[in-house]
Amino acid sequence: MSEHEQTAQEALSRIAAAEDLTALEALRVEYLGKQGSISALLKTLGKMSPEERQEKAPAIQALRQSVADATAERKDALEAAELEARLATETLDLTLPAPAAPQGSVHPVSQVMDELAEIFADLGFAVATGPEIEDDWYNFTALNMPESHPARAMHDTFYFPDTAPKGGKMLLRTHTSPVQVRTMLAEGSPVRIIAPGRVYRSDSDATHTPMFHQVEGLVIDKGIHLGHLKWTLETFLRAFFETEDIVLRLRPSYFPFTEPSVEVDVGFAIENGKRILGGSGDAPDHGWMELLGSGMVNRRVIEMSGLDPDEWQGFAFGVGVDRLAMLKYGMDDLRAFFDGDTRWLSHYGFSPFDQPTLSAGVGARA
Ligand code: PHE
Repeated sequence: MSEHEQTAQEALSRIAAAEDLTALEALRVEYLGKQGSISALLKTLGKMSPEERQEKAPAIQALRQSVADATAERKDALEAAELEARLATETLDLTLPAPAAPQGSVHPVSQVMDELAEIFADLGFAVATGPEIEDDWYNFTALNMPESHPARAMHDTFYFPDTAPKGGKMLLRTHTSPVQVRTMLAEGSPVRIIAPGRVYRSDSDATHTPMFHQVEGLVIDKGIHLGHLKWTLETFLRAFFETEDIVLRLRPSYFPFTEPSVEVDVGFAIENGKRILGGSGDAPDHGWMELLGSGMVNRRVIEMSGLDPDEWQGFAFGVGVDRLAMLKYGMDDLRAFFDGDTRWLSHYGFSPFDQPTLSAGVGARA
């Protein structure tokens, strides 16, 4: 047996016996590494005469090839065995109960929107929606705020560079009132809807965030008057705050899209420095808190929404959903609503199983 054949035999039996990948790698280095014995043999070829090289090269090349092949083969086998062993020990017991944490919760804003939908469904209102990226015409013009109207300046609007299909620029809607117009145009009359959703204004402090939530209410029918508005708001707020003791004060106000316009305040008592809703705000140790804007829908808005204002009248209101949530559930900083802090969310959040229903209580806490 030649010297090379002997080397090959010894190497192949050691490789076949390598117990793990570390041992195999050590053998690879010993034979085929930079300083390896077979690599050294290969280097001798360079110093040989062409004749001698022709004679000796094939055996040395064959030796290198057989050791390289054997190493690769053993490596595959060891890796497969390692995987098998791991699969045998790593198991997943799908019959184990779900872990207690992490657990998601329903955000108070979503909860309040569900509560509102439940309360108003009972009064025969459907839920309507509109786009958050809105056309200038729906957000302003159709609501009786033409291009130069000073009320536009009160809205701190975020504009897009894009020209809107109906003129002006596209914008992020500054209130949910454009849904009034969209609903009348799409569905005609009569109308009874609420429209909850996100609205945007360039404003930011402890009580204002650039994005917040409103719910719009709209009723269009024949012979609708302010009395209907007052009854609807009282019924809604008593159901929402789960107390009969809700006293409202209607104050004359101004919105371009309602005429007359009414600002609605709710009476509260001060107990131990805290505001507790209920009672007349004029009583001793009581006050009035501004809650929402409303009014009879302006004739011009009804007209621009494709209806005859001599035939159809209605009322509308708009209220901040975040504000309602803060009043009902006692948070004091609006900004925390949008921080995504899991401690806040697990404290103020609701169980997904806690569906608001009028019979079980619209605001039952988990
Ligand atoms: N859109 C008004 C606002 O955002 C609120 C409102 C809605 C007032 C409907 C009257 C009628 O302030």
